[in-house]
Order: sequence, then C-alpha cells, then structure tokens
Amino acid sequence: MFLSSCSDMGEPEILLPEIDVIPTSLDFSTVSIGSPQTRQITIVNMGEGELNGTLTLVQDSTVYTMQPQGDFVLQSDDTLLVETTFTPQSESIYTGHIQINSDDPENSDIFVNLTGVGTAIPVPALTISSSSLNFGTILSTSSSQQQITLSSTGNDTLKISSISFNLGVYHVDATTPLELLPGSSQILTITFQPDGAGTFNGDMTLISNSPSTPDVVNLAGVAEPAVSYAASVQPIWNSNCSGCHGSNGGLSLSSYANLIAGTSSNGPVVSAGDGANSLIIKRVKGQVGSRMPQGGAALSTATIATIETWINQGALNN
Ligand code: HEC
Repeated sequence: MFLSSCSDMGEPEILLPEIDVIPTSLDFSTVSIGSPQTRQITIVNMGEGELNGTLTLVQDSTVYTMQPQGDFVLQSDDTLLVETTFTPQSESIYTGHIQINSDDPENSDIFVNLTGVGTAIPVPALTISSSSLNFGTILSTSSSQQQITLSSTGNDTLKISSISFNLGVYHVDATTPLELLPGSSQILTITFQPDGAGTFNGDMTLISNSPSTPDVVNLAGVAEPAVSYAASVQPIWNSNCSGCHGSNGGLSLSSYANLIAGTSSNGPVVSAGDGANSLIIKRVKGQVGSRMPQGGAALSTATIATIETWINQGALNN
C-alpha cells in the first residue's frame, strides 16, 4: 500500500485498492466432448492503491484450466484478463469456481462460479436393415419389389446425398438428398425390373455423412423367359404320354384343360407355382408311385426342368 500525506489533516492517507470482477460467474452451457471452450473474466483495480491478489481454481475434476493462476498485482485502473477453458470428458455436469483473494478491504474473497455440461460429439450413423436383397427368379417380362429400412442411429442428423445403382434394372422410390433425424427411419422400396433374361447381380450404393459411407447393399435377381405351354410343354405330353393318357379315362394329357382338371380319383396333378410338389413332377422323377412314362425311358433332366419351370411360373395357358 502507498501512503501519502494529507495536507489538510496532516495525517497520512491510505490509498485503497478496489477490486471489480466481470462477470461474476461463467456458464459454459453445453460443450461437446473433445471441443474445448474458453471464456474470460476481467479483474479491474478501480481503486487508487495497488491491488495484490491470488487466483485459485477449485474443482472436483480436471476439466477446467485457468491462466494465469497464483499471485497477481494490479496498479490503479489496471486490468487482468483470466482465461478459463472447459474440456469436458464425459456427458456430465461439471462445476467449480475461481477463488480470488485480494487486499481489497471491502471485497477480499470473490468466487466466480463455473458451470458446464459435457455432451457427446454429434456423429450421424446409418444402419440398413439388410446388407443384401434377393429378388429370386422372376419372369423376364415381370418385375419384383423388396423393402429395406434405413435408420438414423447416430446423434446427429443423417444426410443421404445419393442412392445409386450400378445396374439399370434396379431402382428405388426415394429421391435424394434425404435427411433423417436421430432415431428416425425410412422404408425404401427397391424394384427389380429385368430388361431380358439373365442373372443380375448388382449393388445399391448410399452416400451419406455417416462415417460408414459408402454403404453398399448387394442385389441379386434372376430373370428367365416364360416357358410356353403350347410350344414347350404340350409337345412333351404328345411325344411321351398321350398313348396312355388320352381319352381312355383317368388322367388326360391331351390339352391344357385336361391336364389342369387332373383326375377325379386323385385330384390335381399340377400345383401352380410349386413344381417340386406337383404330382406330375414327382411321377416323372419317380419320387412317388411308378415312374412315368410307365415302362418307357425316363424324361431327360432338361425336359423335366422345362415342365417344372412352367409350373413354377404359374402353370399358365400360354
Ligand atoms: C404306358 C402307359 C403310360 C405312359 C406312356 C404314361 N403313363 Fe402315366 N400312368 C399310367 C397308368 C397305368 C397310370 C395309373 C397307375 C399309376 O398311378 O401308376 C398312370 C398314372 C399317371 C399319373 C398319376 C395320375 C393320378 O391321378 O394319380 C400321372 C401324373 C402320370 N401317369 C403322368 C404321366 C406322364 C407325365 C407321362 C408322360 C411323360 C405318362 N404318365 C406316361 C400309364 C402311362
């Protein structure tokens, strides 16, 4: 402290320091883990005498740092900037305080409270219900659809910028960009529309802001030409079966209508859509009863496959 003489009184006058601290608390609000935030407090000596003080940081954890620390001296009207940095380590509330002790006779202990909340780093994430879709075997003149669910499983908005296919036979009912808030999901319908017979192994690629990008869904589909009953199946009966399965009672294989009618005793011999379980296929393979044609050479594998495919395709009168 400085002493000076007071001319009027003839006694020494004490020049006193006066501390002012702005602000008197620091609220860092929510801060992402890994992204430190820094705030300042200002200490001013508003008095006329020298201010001597000490800065101490008090906290339960180590998330706050302060610069400078320890002793400080401020002359009249001088200012000291104190920087405090908050570096949260987990999703919790952190408190502490800066303790400022000084020789201001009026205000020798000041507490600047510190508050901050750590929050998880916002990261988007895409979860797809399946990594592959199999459309099976369909007629080359038809199309087939499958659904898939996209889920936004991160804690930041998922932004899908594009959904693309490497084969033109596949397409999706969604337009991009597509935004999904955390926790939400969207169902996509993917269509397989073959442009001819063949095997179509392709993929769907999703580009997004998820760390997993690009996300790829494998697509598989087979398209086969329709087997014509008139051109490919009836001739098999005509060449191999009609001698016994004509109009002499029992199963008649002389026409589509007679084939579908089956027999009055045993019912239908064709189960549309299910070649393997159709009686007529079981008979020509010799899986039940005597193998057909009875007493003759077995039908070739390819011939049986033609009949079975025609049944799998719906046993149409085509
Ligand atoms: C040489 C005569 C003969 C020939 C050729 C023949 N079948 Fe048969 N088939 C029969 C007789 C007899 C039966 C009845 C006895 C039985 O079920 O084994 C029969 C029964 C069947 C049945 C069972 C019908 C029912 O209601 O249970 C089917 C299906 C059948 N034949 C399919 C064929 C097919 C397909 C061909 C030609 C690839 C064929 N058969 C050729 C004599 C023949």
